[in-house]
Amino acid sequence: MTEREALGRRRRIVAAVAASVLVLGPLAWFWWTSLVPANASVMEMGYPDAGGGPTASASPHDHGTVDGPTVSVSSLTGPSTGTPDVDVTLTAESGRVQVGGGRSIEGFTLNGSSPGPTIEAVVGDLVQVTLVNKSVPDGTTLHWHGVDVPNAEDGVAGVTQDAVPVGGSHVYRFVVQDAGTFWYHSHQVSHAQVRGGLFGVLVVHPATGDDDADVVAAVHTYASTPTIDGSADDLRADAAAGDRVRVRVVNTGSGVLRAWVPGAEFRLLAVDGREVHEPGAVSGQAVVLGGGGRGDLEVTVPSDGSSVRVRLGSQSVVVGPSDDAADGDDPRAALDLLTYGTPTDVGFDPRAADRHFTYAIGRRPGFVDGRPGLQWTINGHTYPNVPMFMVSEGDVVRMTLRNASGQPHPMHLHGHHLLVLSRDGQPSTGSPWWTDSLEMSSGETYEVAFVADNPGVWMDHCHNLPHAQEGLVAHLAYTGVTDPYVLGGGADNAPE
Ligand code: C2O
Ligand code: CU
Repeated sequence: MTEREALGRRRRIVAAVAASVLVLGPLAWFWWTSLVPANASVMEMGYPDAGGGPTASASPHDHGTVDGPTVSVSSLTGPSTGTPDVDVTLTAESGRVQVGGGRSIEGFTLNGSSPGPTIEAVVGDLVQVTLVNKSVPDGTTLHWHGVDVPNAEDGVAGVTQDAVPVGGSHVYRFVVQDAGTFWYHSHQVSHAQVRGGLFGVLVVHPATGDDDADVVAAVHTYASTPTIDGSADDLRADAAAGDRVRVRVVNTGSGVLRAWVPGAEFRLLAVDGREVHEPGAVSGQAVVLGGGGRGDLEVTVPSDGSSVRVRLGSQSVVVGPSDDAADGDDPRAALDLLTYGTPTDVGFDPRAADRHFTYAIGRRPGFVDGRPGLQWTINGHTYPNVPMFMVSEGDVVRMTLRNASGQPHPMHLHGHHLLVLSRDGQPSTGSPWWTDSLEMSSGETYEVAFVADNPGVWMDHCHNLPHAQEGLVAHLAYTGVTDPYVLGGGADNAPE
């Protein structure tokens, strides 16, 4: 090789290296910034978004070095004294789950079954639940989905507590303020533990007693077997002719559940643990429940000795004295909660908002925690570089939820109920529509509002739990609240 050839060759190598650096440098940067920091507080992730409100000096990003008084998540507990009105011990195990028809799957049980026992309480009760982890290897927790508990009782590993290791236990104590249909589930490795059966139903009855008889229908798909209350068979609920029965439907899955009543009228009494105001008779329409959502359907047993059927996807709840009940296909039309029921006072003025946030969901190629793929984005950012929505106690908060991601998402804010103001510009004119699990189709925009009345650090995520695990997670944090828990850490906290 002549000296000249050697020089040419060296130049080509330098050019190739420079080109690779130009291409790979940014890629490496995106990969690097996508890593979820080990043993970090969620408060240190992403960037604060004050929603146009005061950018308080009590930024959680200063992590304890704030001017005002601070309070730790761990001190935001329910009552530590007082005899519980409801006292339950739930023992979590990993193992085979019987799903009916002689079939079983590898999953999780609570007190030997999945779903775990239905917990029943009355408004005002002090509920105490002792979670014992007998054999769930990754550790576990219990989250009270839809119950606006004090923050330290919220059961989110790495945010409000450490995951309970095998051999450990954790006591939850909270007063139930609202009647309604709720559920509880693990919030440690939840995409796998909930799918595998680590959940149950919580019913809070009104202090005045119930008007109707009551049936719980928790819908869950184990592997590919759809079930109601853990059974692949239809659910039979005995009732006499003329009885009115409240069927409490809980969608414990990640996909949409459609509920309808073939050949009969029904009323939708409640949505996500909140009563609908003056719900009218519905026929020929299905109730759409996103992942985590609940709907209480009131049916009336016919007078002719037959039963009434509530279809929950491919399965049914048959209510009445016999197996004989009309059946029919999904009516396709959906009940629109924007216009269902009649308006009543909501207790605050959503127009007088102190903060206005946008939670816009999109999708683009990139990295999340070092994994390449088509990633969910929140306001253009991928996890963990997502917004931390900052509020102060007492704020009226508005949020624009926009879904431009090509897929539906059931959005769940912990610790608060959202009031739906509008969808795609159409205002809510029916009953106040309170929700904690809002199913959003792709292309939809919802305006919602809530009062920041429950201090803490709260997850605000997609309840299609694999999506949450893929990074469709943000948090709402109150100024002055510090969080001692970390993702990872000694407890291997992994809430999603
Ligand atoms: Cu039902 Cu964050 O969960
Ligand atoms: Cu989703």
